[in-house]
Amino acid sequence: MNCRSCGMPNLKPILSLGNMPLANGLLKSPEEPEETYPLDLVFCPDCTLVQLTGNVDPDKMFKDYKYYSSGSKTMLKSAADLVEKTIASEGLNKDSLVIEIASNDGYLLKNYVKAGIPVLGIDPCQKIAIEAMNNGVPTYIKYFKLELAKDLIDSGMHADVIHANNIMAHLPYLNDVVEGISILLKPNGIAIIETPYVRDMIDNCEFDTIYHEHLCYYSLLALSMLFNRHGLSVVDVEHLSIHGGSLRVTVSHNAERYNERVYTMAASETFTLDDYRYYEYFGKRVEVVKDDLSDMLYGLKSNDKHIVGYAASAKGAVLMNYCGIGQYLDYVVDSTPAKQGLYTPGTHLEICDPSKLLETQPDYALLLAWNFADEIMSKEQEYIKRGGKFIVPIPRVRIV
Ligand code: TMP
Repeated sequence: MNCRSCGMPNLKPILSLGNMPLANGLLKSPEEPEETYPLDLVFCPDCTLVQLTGNVDPDKMFKDYKYYSSGSKTMLKSAADLVEKTIASEGLNKDSLVIEIASNDGYLLKNYVKAGIPVLGIDPCQKIAIEAMNNGVPTYIKYFKLELAKDLIDSGMHADVIHANNIMAHLPYLNDVVEGISILLKPNGIAIIETPYVRDMIDNCEFDTIYHEHLCYYSLLALSMLFNRHGLSVVDVEHLSIHGGSLRVTVSHNAERYNERVYTMAASETFTLDDYRYYEYFGKRVEVVKDDLSDMLYGLKSNDKHIVGYAASAKGAVLMNYCGIGQYLDYVVDSTPAKQGLYTPGTHLEICDPSKLLETQPDYALLLAWNFADEIMSKEQEYIKRGGKFIVPIPRVRIV
């Protein structure tokens, strides 16, 4: 395979997690047959992009997506703050246009709608897009591609702002999508793009963020090379704590909008994130987490402790399958109604309402959405008060 971004053939292996079911492939019954696909992570020494080698049919992953961005207060607040800041910095008004790629349930665009600014959401999942439309967010039920960008331009649309949160990682055809962003953006417009930061994944050993949906794992250097290829410059960058550490980059045709922050971060990545040696020992560190976690759970179970999983997250599916720990857990709780009553991929644990935690008071809850640790633990104070403990698996296994 050649690099998804620059097309060069010299990809170097980082880590192989073996054959895995789809991380969001929740089952209707524990007997439902499942397909598995290899998960192999590689590094491109030519453009620094970390990526998976294989492609799974996107419809299998995104047509029946069960992830609602509005499910987390952290995400909602981050979106509302970003919209407020962007309206002010860009001077947006009723004559502007904001487009969001992968607009999910309208969690972000609804803030623009409230401020009277025209928006268009684009998302391939019908069920979630209908929810967005019910929230007053006009949404096209489609994948965003160059062809769609051309159609939008033909119907007179040009964007002042394009948002693309947590979608860059999912794209099999990066150059097609980035070219679409490039032609759709006004000359002084901006695209604001959030995507998990590969540096956090490596430094914090967040190997459970590696799953088939996430084809690409970006550094600022990799993003810059990708956007430059399509006449866009990264003009600003922020490091966010969201999703275990993300980059928020602002790109524009107008390179004069450049902020020094871009230079500072790019300099910090040079001779580090662009060097294969930075990634070479990741696999060994991942094995340590796997051994520590399975040893700990085996020990607790041998002492008759009652253990459950907290959150039927995609990360949780990777963690449980790769570490082989499903056997130690009785069930998983998750606050998403659409997930309750289904079963976790590979491990076939029932997904229950979080109220079950207080009903059965397990000794330990393994936190499978450690990215929402603060939010979940503050919600579950009663469980903790009654003696319940959380096990946090990443970056190192510990009981809190
Ligand atoms: P993600 O890590 O793939 O984004 O999934 C996070 C999961 O965590 C999602 O299914 C919802 C669940 N969750 C809870 O069950 N309770 C919570 O308080 C939060 C914030 C998330």
